[in-house]
Amino acid sequence: MLDLALILLAYLVGSVSSAIVVCRLMRLGDPRQGGSGNPGATNVLRLAGKGPAAATLVGDWLKGTVPVALAWALTGDPVVAGAAGLAAFFGHLFPVFFRFQGGKGVATGFGVLLAWSPAALVAAAATWLGIAAAFRYSSLAAVVAFAMAPIYVLWLAQSPVLTAAAALLTIALVWRHRDNIVRLAAGEESRIGSSSGL
Ligand code: G3P
Repeated sequence: MLDLALILLAYLVGSVSSAIVVCRLMRLGDPRQGGSGNPGATNVLRLAGKGPAAATLVGDWLKGTVPVALAWALTGDPVVAGAAGLAAFFGHLFPVFFRFQGGKGVATGFGVLLAWSPAALVAAAATWLGIAAAFRYSSLAAVVAFAMAPIYVLWLAQSPVLTAAAALLTIALVWRHRDNIVRLAAGEESRIGSSSGL
């Protein structure tokens, strides 16, 4: 019963869209109506600048970390921690509070990784930073970082359960970036710092 309650709580916390909440509180409009239309930190950066984007990033990150850390602390069970992480992540993608139309899961995915394995998070974040610095595409950095994430979890956390959970998370995240991948292939993706286009 506690396990299910923790997983449900993670889904509900994950369903709170930081981008929409931050933009509403700061009277910046709806991030789903501009730029890429994605309620995430990259699009808030594109539409509203660094401060709102940082607030979005922190909010989305924490909603991945906190419920999983709670699940670890109360159960010590990697199955519950893995399920709670996926619940928070899928809450972000399919939020019950926003008609199940959410974001792409990058910041929340990093937050979940932090709670699953801090070492794997450091490796994935370093991958994101390296790709972003080299190519200036947030989406490319996310896809590459999360493609590596299950390998990092297997290597650094040595948990088959968390590795399987990370693989599921990666599949959903890459699928969610399918439009970005098409734009990257066509040379039409906007770069970090660009305020125009998608
Ligand atoms: O955080 C999502 C990012 O990888 C892509 O966002 O707005 O460029 O589609 P966006």
